[in-house]
Amino acid sequence: MARIAVIPGDGIGVDVTREAIKVLETLRELMGTPLELVEFDLGAERTLRTGVSLPPGTFEDFRQNYDGIFLGALGDPRIPDMSHAREILLEMRFQLDLYINHRPVRLLDESLCPLKGKGVSDVNFVVFRENTEGLYVGIGGIFKKGTPDEVALQEEVNTRKGVERIIRHSFEYARAHGLGKVTMADKSNALRYGHDLWQRAFQEVAAEYPEVEAEHLFIDALTMQMIRKPEQFQVIVTNNMFGDIITDLGAALQGGLGMAASGNINPNGVSMFEPVHGSAPKYAGQNVANPIGAVLTAQMMLQHLGFPREAAVVEEAVVEAIRRRQVTRDLGGPLGTREVGDFIRREIGELAKTMTHGNSLGRATGTRPS
Ligand code: NAD
Ligand code: IPM
Ligand code: MN
Repeated sequence: MARIAVIPGDGIGVDVTREAIKVLETLRELMGTPLELVEFDLGAERTLRTGVSLPPGTFEDFRQNYDGIFLGALGDPRIPDMSHAREILLEMRFQLDLYINHRPVRLLDESLCPLKGKGVSDVNFVVFRENTEGLYVGIGGIFKKGTPDEVALQEEVNTRKGVERIIRHSFEYARAHGLGKVTMADKSNALRYGHDLWQRAFQEVAAEYPEVEAEHLFIDALTMQMIRKPEQFQVIVTNNMFGDIITDLGAALQGGLGMAASGNINPNGVSMFEPVHGSAPKYAGQNVANPIGAVLTAQMMLQHLGFPREAAVVEEAVVEAIRRRQVTRDLGGPLGTREVGDFIRREIGELAKTMTHGNSLGRATGTRPS
């Protein structure tokens, strides 16, 4: 039995999580997928109600008692400094050591690509974003706040261990998936300390993988190349801040923020899965948010937990929804959030019928480290 902690969070996070969870429940019903889903009330509502964003012991509970965490999104205009989101989302990445932010950039249907003349074979790569250090660590301070002499410092932390492990993961992934190239993006022409460390770690790790080409691009040039010629990329590895920025760009290449999935992975512990998009407050509760990014996030989680057949069924159902234009209006479709979810679940029903006829579907060989 796989136990999943579900955090719908704020805004459209709630709307899209509902659909993704119903997809998981459908799999449980139709394919016997052994999933236990436990909802956690964490987010702006609870923070405002109780004054506490994260009850003590929550992460320890996740670490000890759960196989996966599914998060919708966090962010609410009533908490303008986003303190609750940092305490829940960023602290979860740090404290559960979710050092691999795995963000696939994969176009599922040519009609969704904003680039002229590019198809599904041109937009198909993965970004590994360092997820536990960089500019996100919150080290710094403000001096003489509110005066004309104010000074604000925000330090970027790059450790040999942190940089090396995300780079090493990228090469391991390339090797395991038969991919020929890893591209590392930094700003080492301007940032001569932290990003010099990235350069050296990259060259040293790359030497251990002679069959994989090691390419370097400065981050500014990389963003231009993502638009100009996305087919040149297979695996991109970069730091926390740059990875955040280029994966919104990557989402646009796939049809928009509503399409992009991600995993926050600790290969030796519990991992967390969330769509790339945020809480889009102006669309909250209106049945307009695209649930596909969240459904594909659930699909990534299924793959990670060792349910590859279920993951394949979900993906096929999503592709069918896009092909038949049974999508939300950000993709030019006529449906609402719930109706897209319903369509995907009906498709899963059809696929499950044809593929499981007479077979018992137990838990398949997992990709999850024991
Ligand atoms: P956002 O991703 O919430 O939305 C930006 C725009 O993208 C939206 O206005 C909408 O046009 C589109 N969009 C995003 N998701 C969509 C979906 N599922 N369907 C259709 N359209 C979609 O980014 P933002 O407006 O910069 O941030 C809003 C809040 O979310 C902020 O508080 C931000 O900090 C937070 N945020 C949270 C996460 C997270 O929890 N993982 C990620 C990003 C932003
Ligand atoms: C993301 C988000 C977060 C990030 C925010 C909400 C802190 O944009 O997951 O991409 O910057 O990591
Ligand atoms: Mn982001």
